[in-house]
Amino acid sequence: MIFMANLKCNHTRKSFEEYAQILDESLKDENVFVFPPSSAFLEGSFKFKQAAQNFYPAKNGSFTGEIGQDMLDEFDIKTVLIGHSERRAIGESEEQLKAKFEYAKKEGFKIVYCIGENEEIFEKGKTKEFLKSQLENIDLDYENLIIAYEPIWAIGTGKTASSEIINDVLNYIRNFSKSSLLYGGSVNEKNIATISKIKNCSGVLVGTASWDAKAFLKLINSAKEMI
Ligand code: 13P
Repeated sequence: MIFMANLKCNHTRKSFEEYAQILDESLKDENVFVFPPSSAFLEGSFKFKQAAQNFYPAKNGSFTGEIGQDMLDEFDIKTVLIGHSERRAIGESEEQLKAKFEYAKKEGFKIVYCIGENEEIFEKGKTKEFLKSQLENIDLDYENLIIAYEPIWAIGTGKTASSEIINDVLNYIRNFSKSSLLYGGSVNEKNIATISKIKNCSGVLVGTASWDAKAFLKLINSAKEMI
């Protein structure tokens, strides 16, 4: 099972050093990825893979405020998140997402591509067609692709999607892609056991419940007891 921690805009370099140390002391061979803020990237090797929440699709250049590939390479980062709803919400367009995808694919990054509907679309029963449209811009056969289904109404709300919904949606996405499929949205130590049993679910993308290293380890251990 894959465990991904999206730390979002939390942790300084100093606090992430402590976080990394706690994880490193306890992890064995679990498949764990951590996405810290880019200002907290650490040098060195860890038992988890360090990954990027965001990047600009260029090696370097005149792109004020952006992080290019050179800056990821410095920390040996080979995994990137694209399409998170919190970035879409601040204006990242399908065109920009496509450019990021194309760049990351060309450079061989592992891409975690996020899709998910808002509450209104969910309530109208239009989730599947919406998700299909979100997948139109990307190469679903890219061998280093992971798709994360994160319903917006479940992010940071404590309102996880039911296993029936997750199962139904992941089965649907499976029709288009052979990639590993993740679920994200209020995953925690209590619901991870149920989520880990869903057929097409290869792992989870965790926000809030991953920000404390010990809590994230507990979540990983709860899932492992079920496997
Ligand atoms: P929460 O786990 O806080 O709902 O966040 C999920 C998420 O956005 C992971 O990318």
